[in-house]
This record gives sequence, structure tokens and C-alpha cells, in this order.
Amino acid sequence: MNDHPTAASLGEALHTRWLGRASEWLAVCASTNDRAAERARAGAPDGLVVATDSQSAGRGRMGRSWYSPPGENLYFSIVLRPTRPAAEIPPLTLLVGAAVANALRGLGLPPRLKWPNDVQLVDAAGRRRKVAGILTEMASAGDRVQQVVVGVGLNVNGLEFPPDLADRATSLRRELGRPLDRAAVLAGVLDALEPLYEDFERRGAAAAVAAFDDHAGLPDRWRVSAPGGSPGWLEGTALGVDADGALRLRDDHGTIHRVISGELHP
Ligand code: BTN
Repeated sequence: MNDHPTAASLGEALHTRWLGRASEWLAVCASTNDRAAERARAGAPDGLVVATDSQSAGRGRMGRSWYSPPGENLYFSIVLRPTRPAAEIPPLTLLVGAAVANALRGLGLPPRLKWPNDVQLVDAAGRRRKVAGILTEMASAGDRVQQVVVGVGLNVNGLEFPPDLADRATSLRRELGRPLDRAAVLAGVLDALEPLYEDFERRGAAAAVAAFDDHAGLPDRWRVSAPGGSPGWLEGTALGVDADGALRLRDDHGTIHRVISGELHP
């Protein structure tokens, strides 16, 4: 397979009306989220996609770095200009996770969303490994959103991971046993996202929560680290996601907690 993705090959594979119709595919950049934010500040249109073959400073949530070697995976960011208020933007992460999950389902894979931003694949033994992560960043003035950048890292053709990820990460190629065309995979995600995002523009955060619920597989037992929270750790059963995207967790005394930001651990 000749996998040399370009803006032109993405354009040929896409079925969207507007999302991804403007795109750039770079050989390398520091972080597509930074590049897309620059483009947005300079007036880039709604739906611009910035993708790259590799990142020198790919970022994840909570200050982590995102493993971004060349020639293997998808690293891309989407510029969005939602008309919804700033308070409704964090659940966009859930919505984009659902779009990635829909696209992976279309490839015959069994995705599962882990709140708030992980897309996982489940193997025959029920073990879940992360295949994609989402990082949403917003610029706003009060409640008015100026721009949103949603970045996605999706492990497509990588077969090896660094030791700290080896146990927890997987790729589409590892699960399907064949390499995939990255432009076609990206087109599949954008095709899945466009109608979900249009629903989000109409209905707001409720649309994101409904899309997430399709793939979340809750209730499910987790420990939660909630930085700055008191207590710092919670343990219990995740019941679902509130209208604003917060996770509802029932502890072993039956108390329900709302987790606004944090990380789930098995
Ligand atoms: C996470 O799981 O913590 C989120 C990972 C997000 C990674 C993507 S790769 C493309 C975009 N550019 C970045 O620097 N980060 C996101």
C-alpha cells in the first residue's frame, strides 16, 4: 500500500460538505493544535483540518506528551467556530470521541469510549487499549467562543510503542492485521463527525452526551484521580455523563459525585 497522505488524497476520500474541505498536510510540525490555533487566529474557515506526518512536541491532556513518530499514524486538528456558549464546549471532546468510534466501527472494530477523551479498542479477552486521544482547546471572550481547536491522535499503522505505552496502547493495524491508508481513515472520521457536529450546533451539549453514551459502556467501575479535588481520589461506579459533560460516579456509600475534570483508572 502506498500511504503518502496529502490534502488532495484527503479531498478525494471525503464525503463531507464543509468539514475538512480546506486542509493542509505537513511533513512535520511541533503540534497540529498550535498550528491550527494560529491558522484560526489568522481567520481560517470553520472546518479547516491541519494534519501532519509527525510532531516534535505533540501534546496530550494534563501536560503529557503525545507519541508522534513519522510515517505511521494520524495527528490532526480541526478548527471549529461553534455558535454555542463557551460553557457547552468541553463536551465537544465527547462528540469527537464518538465520531472516531463510529469510524472505527465502520472498519469492523469494537471501540469503547473512556471518559473524557480516550478511544479504546477491546480485544477478545475484554482487555481495553487506547487507540486515540482527543485534546480540545478553546479561545473565548466571556461566554462568546472565538475559536475551538480539536486535536486527535489516532494510532493507525504503528506496530511498536515505547515501553511506558506498550501495555496500554494499540493501533488499527495491530487489531486488523493489515495496514490502512491514513487519508481514508481521516476521511472516515470527518464523515462521521460532520452530522454529529451539526447536531451539536442545533442542540448543544446534549447532542455530545448522547453521542458519547452510544459507545461508553457505562455503568463501569473506576478509580478517579481528580486533581485539586477533595479527596484527591474517588472509587466507585461511573453511572453516566451529565448534560454538561461531567461524569457521575457513585461511591461505595451510595453518594453520587460529579467529576468535572480528572482521569479514570481501572
Ligand atoms: C490525550 O489523550 O491526552 C490527548 C492526545 C491528543 C493528541 C493530538 S495529536 C494531534 C493534536 N496535536 C497535539 O499536540 N495534540 C493533539
